[in-house]
Amino acid sequence: MEIIRDPKAMQEIAIDLFKRSRSVGFVPTMGALHDGHVSLVKASLHDNDETIVSIFVNPTQFGPDEDLDDYPGSIDEDTKRLKSLHLDYLFLPKKEDIYPQNYLTYVEVQGLTNRLCGLSRPTHFKGVTTVCSILFHLTLPTVAYFGQKDYQQTLVIEKLLKDLHFPITIKVMPIVRDKDGLALSSRNQYLSGNERISALRINQSLEKAEHLIHEGERNVYILKKAITEHLSKSKDIHIDYISICHPKTLIDLTQLTIGKVLIALSVYLGGTRLIDNRIVKLAN
Ligand code: PAJ
Repeated sequence: MEIIRDPKAMQEIAIDLFKRSRSVGFVPTMGALHDGHVSLVKASLHDNDETIVSIFVNPTQFGPDEDLDDYPGSIDEDTKRLKSLHLDYLFLPKKEDIYPQNYLTYVEVQGLTNRLCGLSRPTHFKGVTTVCSILFHLTLPTVAYFGQKDYQQTLVIEKLLKDLHFPITIKVMPIVRDKDGLALSSRNQYLSGNERISALRINQSLEKAEHLIHEGERNVYILKKAITEHLSKSKDIHIDYISICHPKTLIDLTQLTIGKVLIALSVYLGGTRLIDNRIVKLAN
């Protein structure tokens, strides 16, 4: 596994791979790697001639009161884990090399970013699309791998790729969960023992809503009420949002009539913000 820190060196390698017609899979991450990240890396290793993983805790996607300074880091462990997977390239740029002094360029997808997570994190997606644009230019991938865990992020990246004509395909991989159903997240490390138990209600409430839909419930108000009631049984859970919406536009629905629906939610447990989601197919 080759470790590259210098963006120019990364781009030179990427140009060489492109000239040699090697297919390149790219997995952008912020580190503190868990089995969710690893599932993306494995998919890329399986699908492509070469795989590049980046670890970069991107400052521009964190709001002023968020956890940038505390974001979990474990670069030695991450490196070991990636090496054991026989990864080809690990890109570890420094903040000042990605955003040098007098950095002035931002990339923003509008509309899709004003909903769900965008409401409580108004500058988040602008940071994501900016850093992904930079990383895509440095790694020149054929395919970029993202997790459904960050469902809205996948839609925003899809739109970025389409609108700016990046010659890159996005592949979205399923949510990896712990045995008890909690979606893996680097931020789960912040949870106390009791908060970890309360957090189980997140996936349970999504399961409940899915079950109700399969039983024929089509009223979004009733579905949201069921989710709220289940979450609210733990006093330490504070709901940020619950959205039942169209899976492509993220526009809220009032009555379920279409083929598929996205149920997405975000909660705070103490100072930790957790997200999860589920796509539910409606039987005709
Ligand atoms: P990060 O949170 O490190 O996640 C990196 C990738 O791993 C994302 O595509 C995310 O959706 C995926 N992922 C996280 N948890 C997962 C799980 N439980 N199952 C499957 N996939 C999971 O997302 C980011 O970093 C950043 O916004 C980034 C795209 C790197 C830009 O800075």
